[in-house]
Amino acid sequence: LRRIGVLTSGGDAPGMNAAVRAVVRTASFYGLEVVGIRRGFNGLHDGDMDLLGPRDVANIIQRGGTRLLTARSEAWRTPEGRAQGAEHLRRWEVDGLVVIGGDGSFRGAHLLAQEHGLRVIGVPGTIDNDLYGTDYTIGYHTAVETALDAVDKLRDTGASHERIFVIEVMGRHAGHIAVEVALAGGAEEVLVPERPKALAEVAETVRQSQERGKSSSIVIVAEGFPGGAEGVARAITESTGEETRVTILGHIQRGGAPAAHDRVLASVLGQAAVEALLAGRSGEMVGEVAQRLNYVPFEETWTKRKDVASNKYRSARLLSC
Ligand code: F6P
Repeated sequence: LRRIGVLTSGGDAPGMNAAVRAVVRTASFYGLEVVGIRRGFNGLHDGDMDLLGPRDVANIIQRGGTRLLTARSEAWRTPEGRAQGAEHLRRWEVDGLVVIGGDGSFRGAHLLAQEHGLRVIGVPGTIDNDLYGTDYTIGYHTAVETALDAVDKLRDTGASHERIFVIEVMGRHAGHIAVEVALAGGAEEVLVPERPKALAEVAETVRQSQERGKSSSIVIVAEGFPGGAEGVARAITESTGEETRVTILGHIQRGGAPAAHDRVLASVLGQAAVEALLAGRSGEMVGEVAQRLNYVPFEETWTKRKDVASNKYRSARLLSC
């Protein structure tokens, strides 16, 4: 191994920069060169890449977003697109690649390794925390803090106006952010795709909490819950006759300076990814489980299900009585 590539792909996540820095600095420590590929797999397809030295990644550990830019690549969906990317890597004499991203990015990485025999290691970077094989993904903790800050603020208004607030957090297919935020924010109800529930039942829960003397309520809805926040709010108004307000937090959850936890995780896993390539590993994501490095084949990261933490889900609901 003489030269490796690194790219960030899919939705940006706070801590991606710290991961890129760790990859570049670790490579330098072991005497490897690094090529930084811009705009994820799009940049690989277009040959948009340059050498990155240890000084090029100075002053980015604390920054949100990704210095390498990112994309959800259409070009990578075709075998021809991937072959063109592999050709660019050959031309640049890159013989190992670190892909920082979520499940979509790992699907792309898996195909590259399979079809072109390239050594590829994945680093989990997504706010959704929905990858099997790692307790946490880079960006998740920061996103939770950002959403929680918003929930605390909305609670002030909800309490002052004696209103029901329905707040939608990100998570297209996953409720990890929702459960964590609901428990930390003292929400009355949390709705996640992993625990489907009829809207009538949701409305009934809110109605009962009002009967128990609550004058305001916070309902946290994961983006992927059927009906979304709007549907939930409508059902609550129909059942209780009370006014509701909907807030969709959206992309604000993806930005901002990474929390310490995400910077540390990114640093550890970025280093581990380069060391994995040096050890001859490929076709795997490196994560952390119970504070130990954990390697899982790419396919398992999306085929095996990582459920929301049942104990937290239960606590969030039990403590809202
Ligand atoms: O995967 C991260 C995520 O933020 C999801 O929670 C959300 O559904 C999706 O990305 C939004 O994607 P985009 O930024 O492409 O609209």
